[in-house]
Amino acid sequence: MATAAAVTLAAGLLVPATLAQAAPAQAPAAPAALAAAPDIPVANVKAHLTQLQSIATANGGNRAHGRAGYKASIDYVKAKLDAAGYTTTLQTFTSSGATGYNLIADWPGGDPNHVLMAGSHLDSVTSGPGINDNGSGSAGVLETALAVSRAGLQPTKHLRFGWWGAEELGLIGSKYYVNNLPTTERSKIDGYLNFDMIGSPNPGYFVYDDDPTLEGVFKTYFSGLGVQTEIETEGDGRSDHAPFKNVGIKVGGLFSGADYTKTSAQAAKWGGTAGQAFDRCYHSSCDTTANINDTALDRNSDAIAYAIWTLGTATTPPPGPVFENTADVQIPDNGAAVTSSVTVANVPGNAPATLKVGVDIRHTYRGDLVLDLVAPDGTAYRLKSSSTSDSADNVIAEYTVNASSEVANGVWKLKVQDVAAQDTGYINSWKLSF
Ligand code: TRP
Ligand code: ZN
Ligand code: CA
Repeated sequence: MATAAAVTLAAGLLVPATLAQAAPAQAPAAPAALAAAPDIPVANVKAHLTQLQSIATANGGNRAHGRAGYKASIDYVKAKLDAAGYTTTLQTFTSSGATGYNLIADWPGGDPNHVLMAGSHLDSVTSGPGINDNGSGSAGVLETALAVSRAGLQPTKHLRFGWWGAEELGLIGSKYYVNNLPTTERSKIDGYLNFDMIGSPNPGYFVYDDDPTLEGVFKTYFSGLGVQTEIETEGDGRSDHAPFKNVGIKVGGLFSGADYTKTSAQAAKWGGTAGQAFDRCYHSSCDTTANINDTALDRNSDAIAYAIWTLGTATTPPPGPVFENTADVQIPDNGAAVTSSVTVANVPGNAPATLKVGVDIRHTYRGDLVLDLVAPDGTAYRLKSSSTSDSADNVIAEYTVNASSEVANGVWKLKVQDVAAQDTGYINSWKLSF
């Protein structure tokens, strides 16, 4: 039961016992020069497609799981990567009574705890050579991996590329890879980018919208080309990104369309033929090297390289200053809100879009608590709502707030209200990290 006096004291009028403050921000470092992504030669990508076509032609017209044309496709890709200095791993699995193969290629170096992955399925259906589906993605990813080698790229992230088997039987290879990846290894993958059909003959430019950062990188690339994009909707989860997404890995990717029909609005923005499928040869014998739109293949291959360079060479910005208040503030049971303040000084300009709010509240039923961050101008940002079912103790958490419209300097408050009777607690400490 809170008394009025206690509320007054706790309401931020108490001089903090300790106000730890990190050293003022150093002069902002000049951004590290990012290596520009190369223009991927579309002729090289097409040369891979010619090889995959020859492999299919020599092996009964397809490169399907369990058929000789699939293994020959894997051998072709693996030999290119081995010669370029990749560490390659052939992963085998069994599906429908036949041996399947995934090929994993690691580029030596980069932070092993931050893996950026790109992949594509290499198998075709049995009815055709699968040059758009999915020689195109396979060749685009392969040529990007070879460009990494040619550039002698020293990325900050560890780069890993994958070519999946038996996608056409139900994402078998990629599921097998993810299922056999220990949880600790899964957690090291910062993102997985998927490329399945990127040279459709009547192309659209579709970007997966599963993760805003990964989506944003591709949208930035295409807007630089002046090419409009749409969100990929032709069957969510219909390719190898799904197993990654299902275990919580961030995914992105590109797609130029399969058997859906191009609308007149889409033909107006992208050219091509309205009322016709993006790929009339989808899963058919006519999915040959003639079934490729070179412009789409070129743009999408360049976009793969742009994403690998942009995401793979990004540096984590140096940590900014931290402002902390470690004074305890009692929170009255089912009572008025209390606040604890920190004074931010010497931070130029506005607060970041990723202002980190570290909260340490000791409480016997955290569902009782409503938390807000209050900016110097009084704007409140809800950090946490109450819940009658969240019976755990304590709120020890870091929240990220888009505070980019707030001036950084001034008095910021953590506002806490207990909205249900019986359980009580106190603010132990909280901090703002810029
Ligand atoms: N290989 C995929 C399939 O046969 C092609 C595909 C259809 C696709 N819809 C998609 C790939 C959406 C990526 C995104 O199902
Ligand atoms: Zn496919
Ligand atoms: Ca309570």
